[in-house]
Amino acid sequence: MSAIPLIIAHRGDSGTKPENTMIAFESAIENGADIVELDVQMTKDGSVAVLHDRSLKRVAGVDLPLYQLTLAEAKKLDVGIWKGDEFKGLKIPSLTEVLENFNGKISMIIELKPQYFHLEEDYGLERKVLEIMDECSAKLGNGYISVRSESSYAYLVSNSQYPVGLMQKKRTASEMNRIVEDYNIKFAQIRLNQYTAAEVEELKRFGAKITVFYGDRPSEWQTILGWNVYGIFTNYPKNLKDYLSAFPSRMK
Ligand code: G3P
Ligand code: CA
Repeated sequence: MSAIPLIIAHRGDSGTKPENTMIAFESAIENGADIVELDVQMTKDGSVAVLHDRSLKRVAGVDLPLYQLTLAEAKKLDVGIWKGDEFKGLKIPSLTEVLENFNGKISMIIELKPQYFHLEEDYGLERKVLEIMDECSAKLGNGYISVRSESSYAYLVSNSQYPVGLMQKKRTASEMNRIVEDYNIKFAQIRLNQYTAAEVEELKRFGAKITVFYGDRPSEWQTILGWNVYGIFTNYPKNLKDYLSAFPSRMK
């Protein structure tokens, strides 16, 4: 019998709440997510805060990248009102705040979003994130640190005890398989519309747990369920929870 995949709340409960905010993470937990996913970037003063885009324009109305603001400056912005008046005044969370509030309460996938000046030889974001995670005694549970670059993956595996996942960036299945094998990758994160069922089967032969991003509709969930993978990223964890409730067993 196929195992039922874990529900991964993409940027929190981002379909109904402002993404990557404390409210979005709380709501994801309340609505049955197994894992919360968040994106982290470095600020001008070397803090780490939770933001997806390269610019703050979409979520805060200010067309600047996070690395041009200190954490204190970023905290003055409103990252909630774009999603609705009821979210007015929400502040960008730091990684430390997320870990202090949610550590041990929910599994986490922490995606590193390094900016152009983070040269691979530098690993500035990786080092800072590991430092914060150690300070907070981070518990990722069923989650992992998520990265896109092979060198970042290798750095994290060599320099920490945390599980690490590699995200597919339009790699072919055979390229991904080579990487999974070469790096002994434990988690491979793939995009739904870039793999066929046969390619997913091929990928699974190398033993990595596979997570798929993202599915928000029953037709997408049905496809992913057929792949028998570890987790599904969704912007609507409650809807996915309801959909999966028809199935008897859950993978943990
Ligand atoms: O990790 C899945 C997904 O979060 C990757 O895409 O752009 O939403 O960070 P993005
Ligand atoms: Ca992400």
